[in-house]
Amino acid sequence: MSKQAEPPREWPDSWLTLDHGIRSGRYTDPAFAQLEHDKLWLRVWQAAARLDEIPRPGDHTVYDIGNQSALLVRVDDKTVKAYHNACPHRGTALAICSGHFDQGRIICPFHGWRWNLEGENEYVLERDNFRGGQLQNSDVALREIPLEIYAGFIFINFAEEPESFAEFIAPIRKLIDDQVIADVHHIWWKSVRVPANWKVALEAFLEGYHVPATHPQLEVAAADFIYGDDVSGECAFAHDNHFYEVFPHGHGRFYGGQSTPMAGKVQAAGDPVEAMAARLNLLVEGMDAMILKEDVALVRSLKGKPIPEGSTLGGEYVKALYGDAAARQRVMPRPERDVLDMWGGEIFVFPNLMILPQAGNAMMYRVRPDGFDPNACIFEIFSTKTYPQDQEIPRAVVQQMTDVQDPEQFLTIPRQDFSNVPRIQKGLLTRGCKQVWLASYYEMMILNLHQEMDRYLTA
Ligand code: FES
Ligand SMILES: [Fe+2]
Repeated sequence: MSKQAEPPREWPDSWLTLDHGIRSGRYTDPAFAQLEHDKLWLRVWQAAARLDEIPRPGDHTVYDIGNQSALLVRVDDKTVKAYHNACPHRGTALAICSGHFDQGRIICPFHGWRWNLEGENEYVLERDNFRGGQLQNSDVALREIPLEIYAGFIFINFAEEPESFAEFIAPIRKLIDDQVIADVHHIWWKSVRVPANWKVALEAFLEGYHVPATHPQLEVAAADFIYGDDVSGECAFAHDNHFYEVFPHGHGRFYGGQSTPMAGKVQAAGDPVEAMAARLNLLVEGMDAMILKEDVALVRSLKGKPIPEGSTLGGEYVKALYGDAAARQRVMPRPERDVLDMWGGEIFVFPNLMILPQAGNAMMYRVRPDGFDPNACIFEIFSTKTYPQDQEIPRAVVQQMTDVQDPEQFLTIPRQDFSNVPRIQKGLLTRGCKQVWLASYYEMMILNLHQEMDRYLTA
């Protein structure tokens, strides 16, 4: 857990991280958003892309944060580079979205200067006209941004001398490696602008405490209590069996372990196989990620088969899943208890990446501010899986969505989450909302996030 950083005296009260809550100015104040840009985003390791975005030499993509822009280029099978996305001549951005540099030539569209994929200048029109005829290639080479490839991600850091990536990622490296995230590849990827602070959107996914009220279909008994007429007695909150844990450097995780429907624990009347399939199908139809159609088909394949002594429905499902994966030569996580326990849970990579592994698939969320606006963010959802050996891996290309509430663009579960997100921002902006309260257990990852942010913001 991060140690609370001492806030500078000049910080207004509205920027403070409290022991049990967060002051609302951190979500709404443009000056705070500027501070985050300068001291967090320009210094923190951040997942700029998946390698799947630039699979072939010459492929490029662009990652923007605040007023910074990185041009990510595949040089060869083993090498990827990140450059400041600015022409050394007069500043033109060399690319605005993903694409391909034909013949390995990066050409500026303004005056036609040219570089190779290594960032070396190869052509300047009327070169003698510059610097008294003394222009060196090194004067006009593309400027590199520090980069680390890890788990299929390209992490970059805009600092001149970034902190050690190895130390940064160390607390959660094993959790990520255990889920073979380096081996998962693109299925689909959507991006949408949301009218809320990036942390408001992020924090909506850092706890399971919201499940009964926000996703009643996923927690029927608790939702019946919350929305029903009978308010006597206790609410049966099933997500109380989730474990939460926070780590140094702001990272965290939560997971349900063996107590989840994914592990075969279903409390529904009738056929348990059908109940488990129906439950997992809520994720297929509600999200089309983490659990895919084929995974539900595997559950249904257990119908009518006896469960051997000492095994469980969840155990039989895992056997069927691994049998199928082996037959199709699909990479899978080690089938061990601590690895499987993370399925249906989440690994949070500070400051803005969430990985939700399940069954050799993974859904990922990435959130970042939209420019410097404290009231807007860019939210992305990635659906990935490990591919069978004989199946071709597609290049990852983003789909730009326009409305997170449009059923044509997003399925039920994200629509439910995002029905609240702009409302939270609206409430936070009111003068009546001075702070939010955080549950010390269920919402510990949110507090840890802010404490680690303060370490950056006050350094
Ligand atoms: S601005 Fe790029 S060549 Fe002139
Ligand atoms: Fe949710």
